[in-house]
Amino acid sequence: MFPQIEIDLQRLDSNLKKMVGPRHPVLHAAAEHLFQAGGKRIRPAIIFLVAKATSNDKQLTNEHKRLAEITEIIHTASLLHDDVIDECNIRRGLGTVNSKFNNKVAVLAGDFLFAQASWYLANLNDLEVVKIISKVITDFAEGEVTQGLTSFDASTSIDNYINKSFYKTASLIASSCKASTILSCADIVTQNAFYNYGKHIGLAFQIIDDILDITGKSETLGKPAGSDLKNGNLTSPLLFALNESPALYELIEREFSEDSDIEYAIKLIKSTNGIKQATDLAIEHAQTAIESLKYYQSNTSIRDLKLLSNYIINRIS
Ligand code: IPE
Ligand code: IPE
Ligand code: MG
Ligand code: MG
Repeated sequence: MFPQIEIDLQRLDSNLKKMVGPRHPVLHAAAEHLFQAGGKRIRPAIIFLVAKATSNDKQLTNEHKRLAEITEIIHTASLLHDDVIDECNIRRGLGTVNSKFNNKVAVLAGDFLFAQASWYLANLNDLEVVKIISKVITDFAEGEVTQGLTSFDASTSIDNYINKSFYKTASLIASSCKASTILSCADIVTQNAFYNYGKHIGLAFQIIDDILDITGKSETLGKPAGSDLKNGNLTSPLLFALNESPALYELIEREFSEDSDIEYAIKLIKSTNGIKQATDLAIEHAQTAIESLKYYQSNTSIRDLKLLSNYIINRIS
Protein backbone atom coordinates (compact mmCIF):
# COMPACT_ATOMS: atom_id res chain seq x y z
CA MET A 1 0.00 0.00 0.00
CA PHE A 2 2.88 2.38 0.75
CA PRO A 3 5.61 1.98 -1.90
CA GLN A 4 8.10 4.11 0.04
CA ILE A 5 8.37 1.52 2.85
CA GLU A 6 7.65 -1.69 0.96
CA ILE A 7 11.26 -2.90 0.81
CA ASP A 8 11.79 -2.07 4.47
CA LEU A 9 8.71 -4.11 5.41
CA GLN A 10 10.03 -7.06 3.40
CA ARG A 11 13.39 -6.85 5.18
CA LEU A 12 11.58 -6.66 8.50
CA ASP A 13 9.82 -9.92 7.70
CA SER A 14 13.03 -11.81 7.03
CA ASN A 15 14.76 -10.24 10.06
CA LEU A 16 11.94 -11.21 12.42
CA LYS A 17 12.50 -14.87 11.64
CA LYS A 18 16.23 -14.52 12.33
CA MET A 19 15.72 -12.56 15.54
CA VAL A 20 13.80 -15.30 17.30
CA GLY A 21 17.08 -17.20 17.51
CA PRO A 22 17.85 -20.92 17.61
CA ARG A 23 16.84 -21.67 21.20
CA HIS A 24 14.93 -24.70 22.36
CA PRO A 25 13.36 -26.30 19.25
CA VAL A 26 9.81 -26.27 20.64
CA LEU A 27 10.03 -22.66 21.76
CA HIS A 28 11.62 -21.69 18.48
CA ALA A 29 8.97 -23.49 16.43
CA ALA A 30 6.18 -21.98 18.51
CA ALA A 31 7.51 -18.43 18.33
CA GLU A 32 8.31 -18.67 14.65
CA HIS A 33 4.90 -20.11 13.86
CA LEU A 34 3.14 -16.75 14.08
CA PHE A 35 5.82 -14.86 12.17
CA GLN A 36 5.52 -17.35 9.32
CA ALA A 37 1.80 -16.65 9.18
CA GLY A 38 2.45 -12.96 8.50
CA GLY A 39 -0.06 -10.44 9.78
CA LYS A 40 -0.83 -6.95 8.54
CA ARG A 41 2.43 -5.42 9.89
CA ILE A 42 0.55 -2.23 10.58
CA ARG A 43 2.72 -1.25 13.57
CA PRO A 44 6.05 -1.43 11.69
CA ALA A 45 4.47 0.50 8.80
CA ILE A 46 3.46 3.30 11.19
CA ILE A 47 6.91 3.37 12.84
CA PHE A 48 8.66 3.61 9.45
CA LEU A 49 6.40 6.42 8.28
CA VAL A 50 6.84 8.34 11.56
CA ALA A 51 10.61 7.84 11.27
CA LYS A 52 10.64 9.23 7.74
CA ALA A 53 8.35 12.10 8.69
CA THR A 54 10.53 13.22 11.62
CA SER A 55 14.16 12.54 10.69
CA ASN A 56 16.18 15.31 9.10
CA ASP A 57 17.19 13.39 6.00
CA LYS A 58 13.88 11.44 5.74
CA GLN A 59 15.83 8.18 5.98
CA LEU A 60 15.37 5.19 8.24
CA THR A 61 18.28 4.46 10.56
CA ASN A 62 19.19 0.96 11.75
CA GLU A 63 17.72 1.95 15.13
CA HIS A 64 14.35 2.82 13.54
CA LYS A 65 14.36 -0.56 11.81
CA ARG A 66 15.22 -2.33 15.05
CA LEU A 67 12.44 -0.46 16.86
CA ALA A 68 9.91 -1.66 14.26
CA GLU A 69 11.11 -5.25 14.70
CA ILE A 70 10.95 -5.00 18.48
CA THR A 71 7.42 -3.60 18.31
CA GLU A 72 6.21 -6.39 16.03
CA ILE A 73 7.78 -8.99 18.35
CA ILE A 74 6.05 -7.43 21.38
CA HIS A 75 2.74 -7.36 19.47
CA THR A 76 3.13 -11.01 18.46
CA ALA A 77 3.97 -12.00 22.05
CA SER A 78 0.79 -10.29 23.22
CA LEU A 79 -1.21 -12.25 20.61
CA LEU A 80 0.26 -15.55 21.87
CA HIS A 81 -0.95 -14.70 25.37
CA ASP A 82 -4.25 -13.24 24.16
CA ASP A 83 -5.10 -16.45 22.31
CA VAL A 84 -4.57 -18.45 25.49
CA ILE A 85 -6.84 -16.09 27.44
CA ASP A 86 -9.51 -16.10 24.71
CA GLU A 87 -9.14 -19.86 24.05
CA CYS A 88 -8.73 -18.98 20.39
CA ASN A 89 -7.80 -21.66 17.83
CA ILE A 90 -7.15 -19.67 14.66
CA ARG A 91 -4.84 -16.67 14.18
CA ARG A 92 -3.52 -15.18 10.94
CA GLY A 93 -5.33 -18.03 9.18
CA LEU A 94 -3.29 -20.72 10.96
CA GLY A 95 -3.84 -22.88 14.01
CA THR A 96 -2.76 -20.95 17.14
CA VAL A 97 0.21 -22.08 19.21
CA ASN A 98 -2.10 -22.94 22.12
CA SER A 99 -4.15 -25.20 19.84
CA LYS A 100 -1.25 -26.79 17.91
CA PHE A 101 1.04 -27.18 20.91
CA ASN A 102 -0.66 -26.33 24.23
CA ASN A 103 -1.30 -23.45 26.63
CA LYS A 104 1.97 -23.88 28.50
CA VAL A 105 4.04 -23.70 25.33
CA ALA A 106 2.06 -20.65 24.13
CA VAL A 107 2.59 -18.78 27.42
CA LEU A 108 6.30 -19.65 27.46
CA ALA A 109 6.71 -18.71 23.79
CA GLY A 110 5.04 -15.36 24.54
CA ASP A 111 7.34 -14.80 27.52
CA PHE A 112 10.29 -15.77 25.37
CA LEU A 113 9.35 -13.19 22.73
CA PHE A 114 8.86 -10.48 25.39
CA ALA A 115 12.31 -11.33 26.74
CA GLN A 116 13.91 -11.29 23.28
CA ALA A 117 12.27 -7.94 22.58
CA SER A 118 13.60 -6.55 25.89
CA TRP A 119 17.10 -7.66 25.01
CA TYR A 120 17.02 -6.00 21.60
CA LEU A 121 15.43 -2.94 23.20
CA ALA A 122 18.25 -2.62 25.75
CA ASN A 123 20.75 -2.92 22.91
CA LEU A 124 19.34 0.20 21.27
CA ASN A 125 21.26 2.00 24.03
CA ASP A 126 18.65 4.72 24.41
CA LEU A 127 17.38 4.85 27.97
CA GLU A 128 14.36 6.99 27.15
CA VAL A 129 13.21 4.55 24.47
CA VAL A 130 13.76 1.62 26.85
CA LYS A 131 11.58 3.31 29.49
CA ILE A 132 8.74 4.10 27.09
CA ILE A 133 8.57 0.71 25.39
CA SER A 134 9.06 -1.44 28.48
CA LYS A 135 6.10 0.28 30.14
CA VAL A 136 3.88 -1.03 27.32
CA ILE A 137 4.31 -4.64 28.44
CA THR A 138 2.80 -3.72 31.83
CA ASP A 139 -0.02 -1.94 30.02
CA PHE A 140 -0.95 -5.13 28.13
CA ALA A 141 -1.31 -7.04 31.35
CA GLU A 142 -3.40 -4.23 32.81
CA GLY A 143 -5.66 -4.13 29.73
CA GLU A 144 -6.19 -7.88 29.65
CA VAL A 145 -6.84 -8.08 33.41
CA THR A 146 -9.35 -5.21 33.28
CA GLN A 147 -11.07 -6.96 30.38
CA GLY A 148 -11.16 -10.23 32.31
CA LEU A 149 -12.59 -8.57 35.41
CA THR A 150 -15.40 -6.91 33.46
CA SER A 151 -16.41 -9.88 31.31
CA PHE A 152 -20.17 -10.21 30.81
CA ASP A 153 -20.61 -7.01 32.85
CA ALA A 154 -23.37 -5.12 31.03
CA SER A 155 -22.84 -2.05 33.23
CA THR A 156 -19.40 -1.40 31.64
CA SER A 157 -19.29 2.15 30.26
CA ILE A 158 -17.88 3.35 26.95
CA ASP A 159 -15.31 5.27 29.00
CA ASN A 160 -14.10 2.05 30.62
CA TYR A 161 -14.04 0.40 27.23
CA ILE A 162 -11.86 3.16 25.75
CA ASN A 163 -9.59 3.09 28.78
CA LYS A 164 -9.12 -0.65 28.48
CA SER A 165 -8.52 -0.32 24.73
CA PHE A 166 -5.79 2.20 25.42
CA TYR A 167 -3.91 -0.28 27.61
CA LYS A 168 -4.55 -3.27 25.35
CA THR A 169 -3.79 -1.71 21.98
CA ALA A 170 -3.19 2.04 21.75
CA SER A 171 -0.37 2.20 24.29
CA LEU A 172 1.99 0.12 22.11
CA ILE A 173 1.24 2.12 18.96
CA ALA A 174 1.48 5.51 20.74
CA SER A 175 4.68 4.61 22.56
CA SER A 176 6.40 3.20 19.50
CA CYS A 177 5.46 6.33 17.50
CA LYS A 178 7.04 8.45 20.24
CA ALA A 179 10.10 6.21 20.38
CA SER A 180 10.47 6.54 16.62
CA THR A 181 10.56 10.35 16.93
CA ILE A 182 13.10 10.12 19.77
CA LEU A 183 15.35 8.02 17.54
CA SER A 184 14.97 10.80 14.95
CA CYS A 185 16.22 13.27 17.61
CA ALA A 186 12.93 15.19 17.40
CA ASP A 187 11.94 17.83 19.98
CA ILE A 188 9.38 17.18 22.72
CA VAL A 189 6.51 18.89 20.87
CA THR A 190 7.02 16.55 17.94
CA GLN A 191 7.37 13.54 20.24
CA ASN A 192 4.00 14.35 21.83
CA ALA A 193 2.25 15.09 18.53
CA PHE A 194 3.18 11.68 17.15
CA TYR A 195 2.38 10.00 20.46
CA ASN A 196 -1.13 11.42 20.15
CA TYR A 197 -1.35 10.30 16.54
CA GLY A 198 -0.48 6.74 17.61
CA LYS A 199 -2.82 6.79 20.56
CA HIS A 200 -5.86 7.77 18.51
CA ILE A 201 -4.94 5.51 15.59
CA GLY A 202 -4.65 2.68 18.11
CA LEU A 203 -8.07 3.41 19.61
CA ALA A 204 -9.67 3.62 16.14
CA PHE A 205 -7.95 0.37 15.19
CA GLN A 206 -9.28 -1.50 18.24
CA ILE A 207 -12.83 -0.17 17.74
CA ILE A 208 -12.76 -1.34 14.11
CA ASP A 209 -11.36 -4.73 15.17
CA ASP A 210 -14.27 -4.97 17.61
CA ILE A 211 -16.81 -4.09 14.89
CA LEU A 212 -15.26 -6.70 12.58
CA ASP A 213 -15.61 -9.29 15.32
CA ILE A 214 -19.38 -8.78 14.97
CA THR A 215 -19.77 -8.06 11.25
CA GLY A 216 -16.79 -9.88 9.73
CA LYS A 217 -16.21 -13.41 8.49
CA SER A 218 -13.64 -15.72 10.07
CA GLU A 219 -12.09 -16.48 6.65
CA THR A 220 -11.27 -12.86 5.88
CA LEU A 221 -10.28 -12.01 9.46
CA GLY A 222 -7.97 -15.02 9.76
CA LYS A 223 -9.34 -15.43 13.31
CA PRO A 224 -12.76 -16.53 14.59
CA ALA A 225 -15.56 -13.96 14.31
CA GLY A 226 -17.92 -13.56 17.29
CA SER A 227 -15.11 -14.37 19.70
CA ASP A 228 -15.58 -11.21 21.82
CA LEU A 229 -19.19 -12.13 22.58
CA LYS A 230 -18.26 -15.69 23.42
CA ASN A 231 -15.64 -14.45 25.89
CA GLY A 232 -17.91 -11.82 27.43
CA ASN A 233 -15.78 -9.01 26.06
CA LEU A 234 -18.49 -6.37 25.71
CA THR A 235 -17.23 -3.99 23.04
CA SER A 236 -18.57 -0.66 21.77
CA PRO A 237 -21.06 -1.95 19.12
CA LEU A 238 -22.75 -4.04 21.80
CA LEU A 239 -22.56 -1.35 24.50
CA PHE A 240 -24.25 1.13 22.13
CA ALA A 241 -26.80 -1.48 21.00
CA LEU A 242 -27.86 -2.13 24.61
CA ASN A 243 -29.58 1.28 24.72
CA GLU A 244 -31.91 0.28 21.90
CA SER A 245 -32.29 -3.43 22.40
CA PRO A 246 -32.78 -4.43 26.07
CA ALA A 247 -33.25 -8.08 24.99
CA LEU A 248 -29.44 -8.19 24.79
CA TYR A 249 -29.23 -7.91 28.60
CA GLU A 250 -30.83 -11.29 29.00
CA LEU A 251 -28.37 -12.93 26.58
CA ILE A 252 -25.42 -11.38 28.42
CA GLU A 253 -26.91 -12.44 31.75
CA ARG A 254 -26.86 -16.09 30.68
CA GLU A 255 -23.42 -15.58 29.06
CA PHE A 256 -24.65 -16.48 25.56
CA SER A 257 -24.88 -20.06 26.80
CA GLU A 258 -27.70 -21.34 24.59
CA ASP A 259 -26.99 -22.65 21.12
CA SER A 260 -28.04 -19.74 18.93
CA ASP A 261 -27.39 -16.93 21.45
CA ILE A 262 -24.32 -15.49 19.72
CA GLU A 263 -26.04 -15.54 16.35
CA TYR A 264 -29.13 -13.90 17.86
CA ALA A 265 -27.06 -11.27 19.68
CA ILE A 266 -25.30 -10.37 16.41
CA LYS A 267 -28.68 -10.07 14.70
CA LEU A 268 -29.97 -7.80 17.49
CA ILE A 269 -26.84 -5.60 17.40
CA LYS A 270 -27.16 -5.27 13.63
CA SER A 271 -30.81 -4.20 14.00
CA THR A 272 -29.76 -1.18 16.11
CA ASN A 273 -27.49 1.80 15.46
CA GLY A 274 -24.74 0.12 17.49
CA ILE A 275 -22.42 -0.54 14.54
CA LYS A 276 -22.99 2.97 13.20
CA GLN A 277 -22.29 4.59 16.57
CA ALA A 278 -19.16 2.51 17.06
CA THR A 279 -18.02 3.43 13.54
CA ASP A 280 -18.59 7.11 14.32
CA LEU A 281 -16.49 6.72 17.47
CA ALA A 282 -13.68 5.14 15.43
CA ILE A 283 -13.90 7.93 12.83
CA GLU A 284 -13.68 10.52 15.61
CA HIS A 285 -10.44 8.95 16.85
CA ALA A 286 -9.07 8.63 13.32
CA GLN A 287 -9.77 12.32 12.78
CA THR A 288 -8.15 13.28 16.08
CA ALA A 289 -5.09 11.28 14.94
CA ILE A 290 -4.94 13.28 11.70
CA GLU A 291 -5.46 16.54 13.65
CA SER A 292 -2.39 15.74 15.76
CA LEU A 293 -0.25 16.14 12.65
CA LYS A 294 -1.72 19.44 11.45
CA TYR A 295 1.39 21.50 12.21
CA TYR A 296 3.60 19.25 10.10
CA GLN A 297 4.31 20.24 6.57
CA SER A 298 2.74 17.78 4.19
CA ASN A 299 5.19 15.37 2.58
CA THR A 300 4.78 11.79 1.39
CA SER A 301 5.22 10.35 4.89
CA ILE A 302 2.72 12.66 6.58
CA ARG A 303 0.32 12.01 3.70
CA ASP A 304 0.71 8.25 4.11
CA LEU A 305 0.13 8.50 7.86
CA LYS A 306 -3.15 10.28 7.13
CA LEU A 307 -4.07 7.70 4.48
CA LEU A 308 -3.38 4.94 6.96
CA SER A 309 -5.97 6.41 9.23
CA ASN A 310 -8.53 6.17 6.40
CA TYR A 311 -7.41 2.64 5.61
CA ILE A 312 -8.17 1.57 9.18
CA ILE A 313 -11.72 2.90 8.96
CA ASN A 314 -12.24 1.44 5.48
CA ARG A 315 -11.50 -2.07 6.75
CA ILE A 316 -15.17 -2.38 7.65
CA SER A 317 -16.54 -1.43 4.24
C1 IPE B 1 -4.81 -7.78 16.47
O1 IPE B 1 -3.91 -6.94 15.85
C2 IPE B 1 -5.00 -7.35 17.88
C3 IPE B 1 -5.57 -6.01 18.02
C4 IPE B 1 -4.95 -5.07 18.63
C5 IPE B 1 -6.89 -5.73 17.52
P1 IPE B 1 -3.70 -6.96 14.28
O2 IPE B 1 -5.03 -6.87 13.61
O3 IPE B 1 -2.71 -5.90 13.92
O4 IPE B 1 -3.08 -8.40 14.04
P2 IPE B 1 -2.11 -8.89 12.88
O5 IPE B 1 -0.74 -8.53 13.33
O6 IPE B 1 -2.48 -8.24 11.60
O7 IPE B 1 -2.31 -10.39 12.87
C1 IPE C 1 -6.26 -7.14 21.23
O1 IPE C 1 -7.53 -7.44 21.47
C2 IPE C 1 -5.36 -8.03 22.05
C3 IPE C 1 -4.05 -7.52 22.31
C4 IPE C 1 -3.62 -6.33 22.03
C5 IPE C 1 -3.15 -8.45 22.98
P1 IPE C 1 -8.39 -8.56 20.80
O2 IPE C 1 -8.64 -9.66 21.80
O3 IPE C 1 -9.57 -7.90 20.22
O4 IPE C 1 -7.47 -9.14 19.66
P2 IPE C 1 -7.97 -10.24 18.64
O5 IPE C 1 -9.31 -9.83 18.13
O6 IPE C 1 -7.99 -11.53 19.38
O7 IPE C 1 -6.93 -10.19 17.55
MG1 MG D 1 -8.38 -12.05 21.31
MG1 MG E 1 -10.62 -8.54 18.56
